[in-house]
Amino acid sequence: MKIGYVQTSPIFGEREQNFTQVKGLLVNKKADLIVLPELFATGYTFTSKEEAKTLAESVDGITSQFLQKMTKITGATIVGGFIERDNNKIFNSAMIVSETGVIGIYRKIHLYYREKLWFSPGNQQLKVYKINDFKVGMMICFDWIFPETARTLALLGADIIAHPSNLVLPYCQKAMITRCLENRVFAITSNRIGQEKRGLDNFSFTGASQITSYNGEILSSAPKAKEFVDIVNVDINRARDKNLNEFNNLIEDRRIKFYQYI
Ligand code: ACM
Repeated sequence: MKIGYVQTSPIFGEREQNFTQVKGLLVNKKADLIVLPELFATGYTFTSKEEAKTLAESVDGITSQFLQKMTKITGATIVGGFIERDNNKIFNSAMIVSETGVIGIYRKIHLYYREKLWFSPGNQQLKVYKINDFKVGMMICFDWIFPETARTLALLGADIIAHPSNLVLPYCQKAMITRCLENRVFAITSNRIGQEKRGLDNFSFTGASQITSYNGEILSSAPKAKEFVDIVNVDINRARDKNLNEFNNLIEDRRIKFYQYI
């Protein structure tokens, strides 16, 4: 199957321009699964909760409508980040969208830095979605630093982790090699580029979006400072065999009774 990502440079608050950028990058691209960055339509660096709220949407808002159009153009199921409004709360969320509409939502459970001032932490269980013949789970950016996130998705049966990101630290791409190796899953980390200097923050986003294989191999690595798209072919069955060799199975060999502190 064909899996890929779009690496973008969102302009803060300019949803229509950000949609146009994604649409331009996806011209003539066909795939089964495509991942876009965290908060790709709005930008990331807010100055207040009120400001973030003005860019928040319901699950059937304009970002989901845009993504649904992109699924028709690409033939792909698409995952992308957005600010989700639910009554008085807002969440840093990702949605998985097919031609028929939104299949599911993930609300980021590990909020990074000042995100804690704007967003409520995710309040729903991690989940895996069966799409045709593959299973995909979502996590968002900083979730990578908590290995329990990817492990939970793998235990739920994910073949692929869709990982919309706005990375500002230099460690994630290397960490994803371990996350994939230790769980024998594929991962698509879709990152953004550019800089946002707003309020008290001055973030430089690190690009280098990455597709990581079940065996830790890097199948695609984007430039650090350029908009970019890539799509690669993977054999998804590889993620279903958790045997590292004839003696070691990475799920069955766990010694849970010795892990009592987690
Ligand atoms: C991050 O979680 N966007 C750093």
